[in-house]
Amino acid sequence: MTKVSDPIKINKTELKNRLTMAPTVKFDYAGEDGKVTEKHVEHYRERAEGGLGLICVEATAVTPGGRFAKNHLGLWEDAQAEGHRAITDACHKNDVAVIIQLNHTGITANPNCGPAMGPSAVPTRSPEIRAKEMSTDEISEMQDHFVAAALRAKSAGYDGVQLHGCHGYLINQFISEKTNLRRDAYGGSTENRARFGADIIQRVRQECGEDFLISVRTAGIEPDVATAIAVAEEYVKAGCDYLQVSTGIEWEDPTVTDKGEHYNKFCSLGVRFHDHFRGRVPVSCVNSIMDPAQVRYLIENELTDTVDLGRAVLADPAFPEAVLSDKPFVKCFNCPNCQYGPGMPHKCPAEMRRMSGK
Ligand SMILES: Cc1cc2nc3c(=O)[nH]c(=O)nc-3n(C[C@H](O)[C@H](O)[C@H](O)COP(=O)(O)O)c2cc1C
Repeated sequence: MTKVSDPIKINKTELKNRLTMAPTVKFDYAGEDGKVTEKHVEHYRERAEGGLGLICVEATAVTPGGRFAKNHLGLWEDAQAEGHRAITDACHKNDVAVIIQLNHTGITANPNCGPAMGPSAVPTRSPEIRAKEMSTDEISEMQDHFVAAALRAKSAGYDGVQLHGCHGYLINQFISEKTNLRRDAYGGSTENRARFGADIIQRVRQECGEDFLISVRTAGIEPDVATAIAVAEEYVKAGCDYLQVSTGIEWEDPTVTDKGEHYNKFCSLGVRFHDHFRGRVPVSCVNSIMDPAQVRYLIENELTDTVDLGRAVLADPAFPEAVLSDKPFVKCFNCPNCQYGPGMPHKCPAEMRRMSGK
């Protein structure tokens, strides 16, 4: 039986256990220069000390136009790379592997940061405005930005990168038939729709080397699980080492349902991927995994290779110790405060309870 404490090797990177931190943006930490701040370093150091096997640093923009908001971490220029060294050092000192998620918002661009652009001229978040359809030259320039950011990540000591291929951002927009209406080499067949991401993977592999870990956080459903798996097969062919599975844009698959108290329908996507890629490519699942017993169930029943933890480790960095050694922990309150938007009141009640020692 596989145990949560069992190590796993992904490409050449050894994870000391099966617990991984999901990328989670800290909206109020970065300044407009997109550089790492001391708050970031402390945040990741604390979580590295908590006993995770791998940390994936939050969504990081590959161009200024691809940011969620003006205050957002970036790797679009060399000067931004240096600050990441303190994060990678803090992780490695604690024997934690570390990768960074690279992203562009594409059609969902924040107008304060840049124009909406994507595979096709479809409506943006302001339905009266349509995105600009990217030309093939613009596609290739965008891929260059992802590759350059990966090289900067490597120079800063990251073990690898995670391409943000889910949650409706640019790579996901190329996969989805809702946002990709192209009829050229980047649209139409599944293979063509996966090409934007697959080309980036191939080029990152060429530029960053065989040992560099390449993960894709891919849409587990787009619009159904079988198609999403076919896309992921293209990523694997291109050189992807690790599939961390979350949600996409379209959801048209009645076979996806919650699995009682053990895991929900979002997490079940990763379980389906694991079933398909078992023994070939490691897979991680995610979503609302807040109890140590859930983590053990998923790993010990070999339903996934690793478990991605978002809010559980935001609420309490020592959550891994609760899973591995039954230590007490402060559980996420599942409140809306930490969700997504810049300008939200970032007061995590679990974190405040932990700080106050109650
Ligand atoms: C505050 C916050 C920030 C997030 N930022 C990102 C991000 O940068 N990239 C990403 O792929 N997902 C992001 N997510 C989604 C999480 O990685 C994760 O998939 C989601 O929270 C569900 O997992 P959980 O229930 O363990 O938190 C974020 C979620 C939260 C709550």
